[in-house]
Amino acid sequence: MADPRHFLDLDRLETPVLRGILTSAAGFKRANAAGERLQPLKGKMLAMIFERPSTRTRVSFEVGMRQLGGEVIVLESHGTQLGRGETIGDTARVLSRYVDAIMLRTSDHEKLTELASHATVPVINGLTSRSHPCQLMADILTYEERRGPITGKSVAWAGDVNNMTYTWIQAAARFGFDLKVACPNPLEPPKPLLDWARKNGGKVEVLHELDAAVRGADCVVTDTWVSMGQTPDAHRLKKFQPFRVDARAMALAKPDAVFMHCLPAHRDDEVTGDVLDGPQSVVWDEAENRLHAQKGILDWCLQ
Ligand code: CP
Ligand code: NVA
Repeated sequence: MADPRHFLDLDRLETPVLRGILTSAAGFKRANAAGERLQPLKGKMLAMIFERPSTRTRVSFEVGMRQLGGEVIVLESHGTQLGRGETIGDTARVLSRYVDAIMLRTSDHEKLTELASHATVPVINGLTSRSHPCQLMADILTYEERRGPITGKSVAWAGDVNNMTYTWIQAAARFGFDLKVACPNPLEPPKPLLDWARKNGGKVEVLHELDAAVRGADCVVTDTWVSMGQTPDAHRLKKFQPFRVDARAMALAKPDAVFMHCLPAHRDDEVTGDVLDGPQSVVWDEAENRLHAQKGILDWCLQ
């Protein structure tokens, strides 16, 4: 039997596969807008395991799966034997006998890879503390709808170094854009990740200053300063203040630059309300595109 098509991380999938998924996502979006009911996943069942909260991921996967003709089962880990200590490997073996694909949101990236190594059906990363590839697929779809190919463009990341930063770094290599990461000293993305991205053609620079990163950028991205599972720490938060994306920072970017955020946002922490709600913000399209991008992912996984 062929290995299942897991969607775990952008660095595990080659650019043509990711591009194919995006093309298919755009097709699903067009079909939806035209009122066509494409149902390639009729009779398929997706299990979603949530060990962390979610609004967008949960709703967009459920709606997407149903629109494509499939069904979903949502498992909150505290309500399953997983929450009582049944191993992830045993859970993977059992769920693989019932469902056609499994999506996991967890803080522990190793749980995801462990699940995938024991599952005989595709496993999808619905966010770990290390990456959020479904979000990045929606983000690339959004950028390209608005501004055309992202290849060769310049993206500025501002703020924390977290799962979204790591995934943008992987995306820089896979989609061929320049990425400037602006974060407080002494934060740094992990060296192996930077080495991998650079070896694979990603032009990634790390700066400890916001202005130099956003100057001339085609796209400015940020995310919360306190990710799920972290405890807010006043001393740490103070260091992020100079990295807030405000109108002044956006004015340094190209006049047609877009502002992106995976959401949920903390208004007036990492981004001011006027930028989030302003004309350059594409955050609601990003949220919508989770639905379309994940249809592309589900269809690829279940083909
Ligand atoms: N962006 C994102 O993954 O949102 P949720 O946490 O609401 O799923
Ligand atoms: N970095 C954020 C992303 C939320 C979608 C977190 O992990 O909480």
